[in-house]
Amino acid sequence: MKLEHIGIAVKNLEESNQLFKKLFGKRHYKTEEVESEGVKTSFFKTGSSKIELLEASKPDSPIAKFIEKKGEGIHHIAFEVKDILAEMERLKEEGFIVLNKAPKRGADNKLVCFLHPKSSNGVLVELCQSIPKE
Ligand code: CO
Repeated sequence: MKLEHIGIAVKNLEESNQLFKKLFGKRHYKTEEVESEGVKTSFFKTGSSKIELLEASKPDSPIAKFIEKKGEGIHHIAFEVKDILAEMERLKEEGFIVLNKAPKRGADNKLVCFLHPKSSNGVLVELCQSIPKE
């Protein structure tokens, strides 16, 4: 598994885009809204990985609840896999709690699923597989 990106929950995407632009010395290369997840995201390239900033787009979205409970900060770590269905099966057998019955469409043209933090030392793990472009 390759580290694909780290997701960071932020209160204000515009302000955080400016902040992370100062940190990296370059601006984000795209923004995307994932309606089903209630998030607005932006992406920065950092070497072979990425940073994904996440702002809640509605008050009951998971990111809004996360920030309410824990404040801004690292929300998840995402690993690229070649075969997400096979990995979901394998990890279930290894005792991880897979939060999704089936992979769903995430940001950045990917199929994604999540592992419950309580089965992975408090870390919300995202598995992602690129959807081939047609
Ligand atoms: Co992510």
